[in-house]
Amino acid sequence: MTLGGNAPGISVMPGIGDRTIVLVGLMGAGKSSVGRRLATYLDLPFKDADTEIETASNLTVPEFFERHGEDAFRDGERKVIARLLDGPQHVLATGGGAYMDDETRSLIRERACSVWLRADLETLLKRCLKRNTRPLLKTGDPRQILNDLMTKRYPVYSEADIVVDSNDGPHEHVVQRIVKALQSHTDTKAAIQS
Ligand code: S3P
Repeated sequence: MTLGGNAPGISVMPGIGDRTIVLVGLMGAGKSSVGRRLATYLDLPFKDADTEIETASNLTVPEFFERHGEDAFRDGERKVIARLLDGPQHVLATGGGAYMDDETRSLIRERACSVWLRADLETLLKRCLKRNTRPLLKTGDPRQILNDLMTKRYPVYSEADIVVDSNDGPHEHVVQRIVKALQSHTDTKAAIQS
């Protein structure tokens, strides 16, 4: 499978219908990089929830956390995702905490197809430390924080429709795994709609 060529398009993913494909997972799982490539491959628009918040507030995520606090960020995140899921089909990369919100999670369940990019601690840590801009990782030892977040969040991420491993290796391989999983995914609601 070569990216950008012979893309199967969404027509061979009948289980998805016109649902947006939402990538969830911890910081460093590759949601934005993989999401952008997946969108190109499927010829769908790509959106990034963190970027939408940054554009709307004219602040970076760390600046937002510093100025308004995490609760305000979570409110903004919930609103941004609800607005995006109201729009046309696209590939959406969410911030690591978005899927932990009950309201957001049920909206995603109702309107989208969720894909959890699962990665191990070493991979996450390596990727996050390359560019240590995440406010949550600045409050202590990043390894310990990521480990605690894995314990807390992985059982919730596991509710996603599709689970794909995103450990070391080219992002294109992860894209291939997602496409394969999407092609065989059967979603009763989407099947009924189409
Ligand atoms: C967060 C993850 C970040 C960003 C914010 C909070 C989290 O996004 O939304 O720093 O709670 O895990 P990425 O997962 O894209 O790094």
